Amino acid sequence: MFDDPIMGPRRFQIIEKNGLKIGVTAVLGKSLQKEYFPEESQTDIKISDPVEAIKASLEKLKELKPDLLVLLSHASMDESKEYIKQFPELNIVLSAGGAEDPDDKMIMEGNSLLLNVGHKGKYAGVVGYYDVKEKPYQFELVDLDNQRFTETKRMQDHMQAYQNILKESADEVFGSLPEAFHPSGSTFVGVNECRQCHKKAYNKWKTTRHARAYLTLEEGPLPEHDHGNKKPQEWIPRIHDPECLSCHTTGWEAQEMYPYDSGFKNAEKSPYLKGNQCENCHGPGNKHVDLEKIWKKDQKKVSMDDILAQRKHMHLDKTMAKDVCYRCHDLNNSPKFNFDLAYPLIQHIGKD
Ligand code: HEC
Ligand code: HEC
Ligand code: HEC
Ligand code: HEC
Repeated sequence: MFDDPIMGPRRFQIIEKNGLKIGVTAVLGKSLQKEYFPEESQTDIKISDPVEAIKASLEKLKELKPDLLVLLSHASMDESKEYIKQFPELNIVLSAGGAEDPDDKMIMEGNSLLLNVGHKGKYAGVVGYYDVKEKPYQFELVDLDNQRFTETKRMQDHMQAYQNILKESADEVFGSLPEAFHPSGSTFVGVNECRQCHKKAYNKWKTTRHARAYLTLEEGPLPEHDHGNKKPQEWIPRIHDPECLSCHTTGWEAQEMYPYDSGFKNAEKSPYLKGNQCENCHGPGNKHVDLEKIWKKDQKKVSMDDILAQRKHMHLDKTMAKDVCYRCHDLNNSPKFNFDLAYPLIQHIGKD
């Protein structure tokens, strides 16, 4: 799969378009080298000095006599400026190390154009080049929203291939996640237990999107949430992807993206933990459930202290709720989250 140009890094490439020869090379800056490949991980990978790497690539590229030299700089803006200083022959430097959502300003560093294209593939930097002395460059930062742009088949195939790998090597994938027990010492039992005694809460929860969170991974978003432009068959199921399961199922450390020992594993082993259920907010409930079941039958068989301690463990109120929401409604996944507007949509009153 690494023969594919999307996945396989090349040192450089010549692209010919409209009679123009564009030489492109890419580099990973020192600051990001450390972040992506901490020293202990550098056993199988050799990482060269970025300046040496650019130098070597440019030497080879120049032999091919390109009209324009472009550097894709996976580095901070400061590092990118430093590369321009060292290699003023670079015509265009696209830096991925600036703001996540940049403006579309063109920065001239000497004779080189330095552009900031943001993070996470949210934007495409489109450069127009005209063979004129005055203002040879135009730049537009194009927001890759899903209204003007649909998925490309090649990327979809990659996504599918990745999901297939996750599915086929699920044992290995899950084996590589930390083994964790919930700090409370309790285990996750699932909403079908809770609903037996908390009909009001259950009936409310069932109507919220929390109840459909797993279905979203399986079948995609509701059409009305996706501007109606994603046909269901284009959705690639993510039900084996820990980076999605962590907030769309029950019993995970949502931010760290690993399941607790009794948390959701897959639809066969733990179907009762699909979706964002009661216990993600209230905490795992096996002890509460066991005690309440006995108490219901024979109040003499359990101590009231134990019962109350477990009810307290399950207790939440509005002031505690905010922190619970932010575990999943973070800036990446729920950027427009507004607690005061969201809370009434999920609030459930009644202990019976
Ligand atoms: C066998 C019955 C039973 C089951 C099953 C059960 N509960 Fe309860 N739960 C109770 C009773 C009884 C109370 C106390 C109600 C009261 O104070 O009026 C309670 C109280 C609570 C409270 C309120 C605590 C407080 O005082 O604010 C929460 C939250 C709660 N349960 C969550 C859950 C969750 C989540 C589950 C599923 C994991 C669950 N319960 C399963 C019987 C049950
Ligand atoms: C850190 C928690 C978290 C992770 C991880 C996460 N999500 Fe979500 N996801 C959310 C939250 C919260 C919402 C609701 C956001 C909103 O509407 O404001 C959401 C909403 C969605 C929606 C929109 C559903 C609709 O009907 O509008 C889709 C689709 C989705 N997530 C898919 C995924 C996929 C695929 C992954 C893995 C790549 C993923 N999520 C990982 C928390 C998460
Ligand atoms: C998104 C988080 C979240 C989910 C999911 C959730 N709850 Fe709650 N629940 C809360 C919060 C927060 C409160 C406190 C409500 C308040 O004081 O306004 C609460 C209150 C309660 C209460 C006490 C109600 C009262 O009148 O005092 C019970 C019982 C309860 N939840 C049970 C459940 C059950 C059962 C489920 C699953 C069917 C569930 N909850 C799902 C957050 C959640
Ligand atoms: C374990 C993760 C998790 C927690 C904790 C959580 N949510 Fe969510 N929430 C989600 C996911 C995932 C979705 C999207 C579900 C879907 O549509 O697939 C969502 C969707 C929603 C939605 C519907 C989308 C919208 O903006 O209208 C509301 C409202 C909401 N959550 C409110 C809350 C509130 C309030 C809290 C805290 C009391 C909370 N959630 C806690 C994961 C979580």
